[in-house]
Amino acid sequence: MGASGPYCQNGPVTRASLDKQPHEVASMFDDVAERYDLTNDVLSLGQARLWRKEVARAVDARPAQKVLDLAAGTATSSLPFARTGAYVVPCDFSLGMLRVGKQRHSWLPFTAGDATKLPFKDDTFDAVTISFGLRNVQDTDAALREMYRVTKPGGRVVICEFSHPTWAPFRTVYTEYLMRALPPAARAVSSSPDAYVYLAESIRAWPDQRALAGRLGEAGWGKVAWRNLTGGVVALHRGFKQA
Ligand SMILES: C[S@@+](CC[C@H](N)C(=O)[O-])C[C@H]1O[C@@H](n2cnc3c(N)ncnc32)[C@H](O)[C@@H]1O
Repeated sequence: MGASGPYCQNGPVTRASLDKQPHEVASMFDDVAERYDLTNDVLSLGQARLWRKEVARAVDARPAQKVLDLAAGTATSSLPFARTGAYVVPCDFSLGMLRVGKQRHSWLPFTAGDATKLPFKDDTFDAVTISFGLRNVQDTDAALREMYRVTKPGGRVVICEFSHPTWAPFRTVYTEYLMRALPPAARAVSSSPDAYVYLAESIRAWPDQRALAGRLGEAGWGKVAWRNLTGGVVALHRGFKQA
């Protein structure tokens, strides 16, 4: 890593690089934890709340079902499932994000864990979901396999992630927003604006809807389908573990 790149031994990591070293990713989220939810609302132009409602509908959590919200951060993404009466476990490897989450939602069973080596037994959860997390995991396929392992037979996965707008003119405008408008906007509201340069770059490098669906299938998930939100700025992927 070059002298101008992220560092972590002698100071805070302000952003991860695209090879997504786990210690850099965790440190980057530790750094943004306090203002993470506010920054999200601002930079998504209010769309984040709408996306979360759609995730809740897709997961369709029922009372007493066990739901794993992986890469849950401060657990804002976990709240809609908890409200249905499901037993929700928010899990993340950034202790900073977990700490802020625990201060705000102390009743939730926050769990420290890495998406590629989950600290849960096989066939534990009725549903496993991950919002804006999978793109940050260094080994996507290992995470998809781990999510499969901890899901009960017949259970479901819902992945909410930034994706690729399907209408070319909108895709051009959106890419301009990501690369030009988002970094200055992040500078105004975030404690760690460089993390949002990583956000823009990692979204551009992320597989499109069809390619991600293929990766789910390779990890074992069946009946894989996806739905675009906000013209494909975000996509929800769903799959099932064979009963
Ligand atoms: C953009 S935040 C999303 C938080 C939350 N799900 C939401 O929707 O607001 C991404 C989260 O992924 C977590 N993360 C990244 N890689 C991870 C891994 N390998 N294992 C567990 N958590 C991970 C980060 O620590 C961070 O909290």
